Amino acid sequence: MKSSEIRESFIAFFESKAHKRVKSAPVLPIGDKSLLFTNAGMNQFKSIFLNTEQPKDLRVVNSQKCIRVSGKHNDLEEVGRDGFHHTFFEMLGNWSFGDYYKKEAIQWSWELFTEVWKLDKHKLWVTVFEEDDEAYEIWKECTDIDPSRIIRSGAKDNFWEMAETGPCGPCSEIHYYVGDNPSNQNANMVNHSSEYWELWNLVFIQYNRLKDGSMEELPKKHVDTGAGLERLCSVLQQKNSNYQTDLFSEIISEIESISQTSYNDHEVSYNVLCDHIRMLTFSIADGIIPSNDGRGYVVRRVLRRASKFAMNLGVKDPILYQLVQALVTVMSSHYPEIKEKQQYIEQTILNEEKSFLRTLEKGVLQFEKIISESNKTIIDGIDAFKLYDTYGFPLDLTQLMAEERQMKVDID
Ligand code: ALA
Repeated sequence: MKSSEIRESFIAFFESKAHKRVKSAPVLPIGDKSLLFTNAGMNQFKSIFLNTEQPKDLRVVNSQKCIRVSGKHNDLEEVGRDGFHHTFFEMLGNWSFGDYYKKEAIQWSWELFTEVWKLDKHKLWVTVFEEDDEAYEIWKECTDIDPSRIIRSGAKDNFWEMAETGPCGPCSEIHYYVGDNPSNQNANMVNHSSEYWELWNLVFIQYNRLKDGSMEELPKKHVDTGAGLERLCSVLQQKNSNYQTDLFSEIISEIESISQTSYNDHEVSYNVLCDHIRMLTFSIADGIIPSNDGRGYVVRRVLRRASKFAMNLGVKDPILYQLVQALVTVMSSHYPEIKEKQQYIEQTILNEEKSFLRTLEKGVLQFEKIISESNKTIIDGIDAFKLYDTYGFPLDLTQLMAEERQMKVDID
């Protein structure tokens, strides 16, 4: 199945269970100061969970554009190093607003995975919150999962919260073993090894986390689920990494042709470029443009980070803006806004690339000078500041470059 078919198959499955298909919200959260970017499918339904808005439909389904580069959910550091973390990703989700609860949510997820998509039950694992006996019993009694594959774990992995405040609750995750030795699977490695991928998170929203850290019980109980489309594509298309799926193949070919390099020789740089161009395109399409503070600065940081990785491929001219077309080809049938605003997106990226490229090379030389002068393993704060102030290097870019040389920046 192609990515567009997997997305559609998820949505159609829940339509067959009386869910209403709704559109993705923008990645710029509307009227929510607790978030810089939309980080989960449930964000647009926050006021329904908090009971300040009444839902038009009690069951909905969609594919939500999400960005996780700041705050409670931040995957930036992981991007490129592995094949399954992204700054921008699509979250497939189904919701119940005070309607069905744990039993249906669990049974339907199992039905979709094992009967419709026919994922191997001997590679699936399920986690439940350690205090959630109800979820444990439902998995055991209402599905045919082998009970030894149901694991109880603590709040770190099985209690989901959208931000420092807001709706939250216990969750149950479905993980999949992607390694090469199925006979070596081990319950203790779930959540602790990159051979086990979390594919779907079923959250049972029943509390509101308040500013003082306490939780108040919500008037109704809700279901909020999220499954990463990119990981599902990787598993269903039998690939080892999300970047090998059709979601990224056009972008990779475009980078290969512009840079005259090959993916296999520069996997990390390609992965970062593939990831970051999606974050940039969707942010700009939804009205977040590079700037010096807040959301705009996050976009600027991501763009500059991407420019640095393009430089690793020997590309000296602006490249990122040229990748937007590939993304439009793959994703605009579901997200027409990127086609409608394509020219504006390309121009915005090009302007920003040009302005950074004016200082990038000098900045890299300055960086080399700094590290050649110091025989320490620490880059001084003053040097990191100069790279930021004079050469436009966001701190995380300097940290990343330092790390490439087994060095650290003195943040204090
Ligand atoms: N809101 C839940 C998550 O993002 C489903 O994992």
